[in-house]
Amino acid sequence: MRKHIVAGNWKMNNGLIQTETLIVELKKQEKTSDAEVMIAPTFTNLWHAFQSAKQSGIEVIAQNMHFAENGAYTGEISAGMLKSIGIQTVILGHSERRAYFNETDESLAKKVDAALANGMRVIFCFGEELSDRKSGNEEIIVESQLKNALFHLSTDAFKHIVLAYEPVWAIGTGETATPDQAQTMHAFIRKTIAEKYGNDVADSISILYGGSVKPSNAKEIFSKPDVDGGLIGGASLKAEDFFAIVNAF
Ligand code: 13P
Repeated sequence: MRKHIVAGNWKMNNGLIQTETLIVELKKQEKTSDAEVMIAPTFTNLWHAFQSAKQSGIEVIAQNMHFAENGAYTGEISAGMLKSIGIQTVILGHSERRAYFNETDESLAKKVDAALANGMRVIFCFGEELSDRKSGNEEIIVESQLKNALFHLSTDAFKHIVLAYEPVWAIGTGETATPDQAQTMHAFIRKTIAEKYGNDVADSISILYGGSVKPSNAKEIFSKPDVDGGLIGGASLKAEDFFAIVNAF
């Protein structure tokens, strides 16, 4: 069976004190689902969050990393640095990174390689913009993002990828893809993977949905057969809301 995963992407929110306060609150929540739970605080708070969340069953993960191992890349963080403080999983390719920091499928392919070479698990984000959907090109865009950034991977390497389909028009807008829109795209993504890596691999890959997931809509979205979890932005900043989503499975 595929893993269910609910990951909170905190984005550029929460200083040290707020990070600690939120983790304390998260640890008080009761988990009644089988979903793996992850949180992605900012770089400056990763070490503290990692220590604070130890033995809580909540995995602390990173929001981004550079593809180089070290060197003259002022302001950047490498996979080896994340590993050195115990971080095992990294989010790559978030649409905000693509839009504001010029990340491309080509640079993301290098980041994916660097993460996997360091034995990390990758949550790879991708998804179409509103104009793509309006013009009926959402599947073409999604397929090209997958192929360009990931399909150079061997079958073994690909198994370390978790996918997060995040339609850009649904992120932080309050506008969610309908459960049927999410299911249709997730099924298309799985079919695309099957064509490249075979049915067994496609059936084993967790595909998360991201974009305005809330306690009020999580159950319906997660009830779809090809939706294996969620990548949660705004609602992950409140412990009760986040765990209401975790427990929606
Ligand atoms: P929201 O849940 O705030 O729409 O953000 C989704 C997201 O970007 C998660 O990575």
